[in-house]
Amino acid sequence: MRKTICLLPGDGIGPEIVAEAVKTLRAVEKKFGHEFVMSEALIGGAALDAAGDPLPAATVDACKAADAVFLGAVGGPKWDVLPGDRRPERGLLGIRKALGLFANLRPATLFPELAGSCLLRADTAAKGLDLIVVRELTGDVYFGKPAGQEVRDGQRVGFNTMIYTEQEIERIARVAFATARKRKKRLCSVDKANVLDVSRLWRAVVSEVAKDFPDVELSHMYVDNAAMQLVRDPSQFDVILTGNLFGDILSDEASAITGSIGLLPSASLGAGAPGLFEPIHGSAPDIAGQGKANPLATILSAAMLLRLGFDMEAEAAAVENAVHAVLREGFRTPDLMPASGGAGFHPVSTTEMGDRVVERL
Ligand code: IPM
Ligand code: MG
Repeated sequence: MRKTICLLPGDGIGPEIVAEAVKTLRAVEKKFGHEFVMSEALIGGAALDAAGDPLPAATVDACKAADAVFLGAVGGPKWDVLPGDRRPERGLLGIRKALGLFANLRPATLFPELAGSCLLRADTAAKGLDLIVVRELTGDVYFGKPAGQEVRDGQRVGFNTMIYTEQEIERIARVAFATARKRKKRLCSVDKANVLDVSRLWRAVVSEVAKDFPDVELSHMYVDNAAMQLVRDPSQFDVILTGNLFGDILSDEASAITGSIGLLPSASLGAGAPGLFEPIHGSAPDIAGQGKANPLATILSAAMLLRLGFDMEAEAAAVENAVHAVLREGFRTPDLMPASGGAGFHPVSTTEMGDRVVERL
């Protein structure tokens, strides 16, 4: 099959890790007889430096024209001093909005090969961790208006608006129920309905959508409790459905407890538009350019691209199996090295890790 991919390497470790995913996609291309036509566009701080805009119009056009978009990471201390509308993060939020990518799927699993890195107590980890956060991505307090800073009664105030329409809630709820249907059929919707009006609407609409999915068991949980349950016993979760802000926080938590934020991929999908695939971690400016970054979350994001973007299940599974094989054989980037030292492990750089995955393919 011939497919086009728009690459957005971005900032910090972004270009290094995207290069390893590209290597992997090239290997898939050869092994399975596809043709992936890749182009590159600017986003984030890199785009600010080159074009004075974190999301140049040319980037939006290039993404819209592609079959899939693949992103590294954006942001860094260099641009932290800029005002909100000119920060690198604007580029990422802007492309999500421009492509209508309202559904963000963030799976968190405990790799058996890495059980030793899990931050949970051994008896808790033994129960397993295999969940997916379905995060709404184009609404909520991230985009609600009014938003800003101004002076009121002689002092500065800052404000954002947490808002969801019933249509926005319904469409993300449908994605979450459909996702649960393909898994263990358990959906937990997370909100703050004991305090927030927007959450009470969220809960009501999710409950209405549930009538169309009688085979899926729906529960509701307050976000503070969900944050606690994730560390107490994450095995109770199958699919977590939540809004943009709560999903941002809970997905980082879910990934970190596996011990390896450098391993978890994500997919952002809309209705019809090309999907965007990216690791859930950030641009890690402190280790950029040193060959220390773990490319596996990015390579696993390429697997999600193959599966969800191009409907290539065998190809996606081949990439995932290669990653597991490399971990089983003991290859580790510095972030995955056990604190106790590395007997039986082989320390590798970013590019060596990519090479090992390509070999296993
Ligand atoms: C994420 C990130 C982004 C978000 C930032 C970089 C804008 O934290 O993808 O989780 O908050 O959505
Ligand atoms: Mg985040």
